[in-house]
Amino acid sequence: MPLSLSEQEYRRFLETDDAPAPHLDFLHTASYRAAGAGVRLGVFDALAEGPLPGEVLAERLQVDPRGLGLLLTALRSFGYLTVTGDGYVNTAKAQKWLLDTPGSYATVFSFWQTVLFELWSELEDSVRTGKPAVDFYQWLEQRPATMRRFQTMLTRLAGFLCPEVLAAVTLPEGATKLLDIGGGHATYAVGFCQRYPELSATVLDLPGALAVGSEAVAAAGLTGRVSMREGDLRTDPFDAAEFDVALLFNIVHGMPPAEVRQLLAAVAAALRPGGRVLVLEPLSDLAAGGGVVGEAFVRTFSLNLFHGQGGQVYGYAELAEWLTEAGFTDLDRHTFQKSPTDHLITALRG
Ligand SMILES: C[S@@+](CC[C@H](N)C(=O)[O-])C[C@H]1O[C@@H](n2cnc3c(N)ncnc32)[C@H](O)[C@@H]1O
Repeated sequence: MPLSLSEQEYRRFLETDDAPAPHLDFLHTASYRAAGAGVRLGVFDALAEGPLPGEVLAERLQVDPRGLGLLLTALRSFGYLTVTGDGYVNTAKAQKWLLDTPGSYATVFSFWQTVLFELWSELEDSVRTGKPAVDFYQWLEQRPATMRRFQTMLTRLAGFLCPEVLAAVTLPEGATKLLDIGGGHATYAVGFCQRYPELSATVLDLPGALAVGSEAVAAAGLTGRVSMREGDLRTDPFDAAEFDVALLFNIVHGMPPAEVRQLLAAVAAALRPGGRVLVLEPLSDLAAGGGVVGEAFVRTFSLNLFHGQGGQVYGYAELAEWLTEAGFTDLDRHTFQKSPTDHLITALRG
């Protein structure tokens, strides 16, 4: 939680420079880490029903009372807890955002915490060498809880954007075959198949993601029309001139430019003439309305992509150039109403 500074502190740290503003970043980072411990130890969930004294909470959570006492006082100073006569209680913001409930922000909060505190430990190496110091997807496959959070976040975002994607796009008449590259959770493949009864879909992804998608496909009763194909999108050839439409949703940002260009050429080869590629991406040329928070998130995301995958958030101009180079024409761009950082680019295979 941003520290609630007194007027005097605000002036010293942020106006007069009598005190180092980066000290606030240090404390905000400690606040983030401590609140993450609160989420993972179950502190906020345990206090969801009302106040509890520290010793009772320690007993309930089966943790060390002194350690918990220090964590609770820190969380209080960071604005996540308050104290009443009956013990500690969640502040309204902790209660609203950090409980383990469906749709809670706690998933995003915990996912990024693991990324920043574990994955970014070698960030300097990536920047120094220009090569990702870690392999994000291998790292993820070894961390089932983080993988679950990642897939939950992707599925939620896809569920949020899918109706707008379906409204923005009309598939070519008679389209029957869709390829969803890196479409793991299958939300988009399912959405398109539900909207277009003649369509069948192939979802290509890694095993961990396909497991999530297979459940969604079965739940939608579409097992016969959506096939889940395990493969590596960087090396597996797609079937030539086979597909009417290919989805590249949040894929190209995970690759360096040379690989993006190779992938776009492979996608062009997989589409029949007149087929369509749909590219969903955040873009580095941000839409108006993202604000300071939106911009900071996109820059953080981009740095993370570079560090874990050698990718980055690209600009529209470079993606358009690479699509054209791969033989695509009639480029069009849709900016989402629901999300100022996401964009949908559509193009025809010439
Ligand atoms: C950022 S997610 C996007 C998921 C989905 N397309 C969406 O927009 O919500 C990237 C997906 O690509 C998959 N992926 C990453 N590297 C891959 C590879 N080498 N081969 C196949 N799939 C890969 C991941 O497992 C993940 O499901």
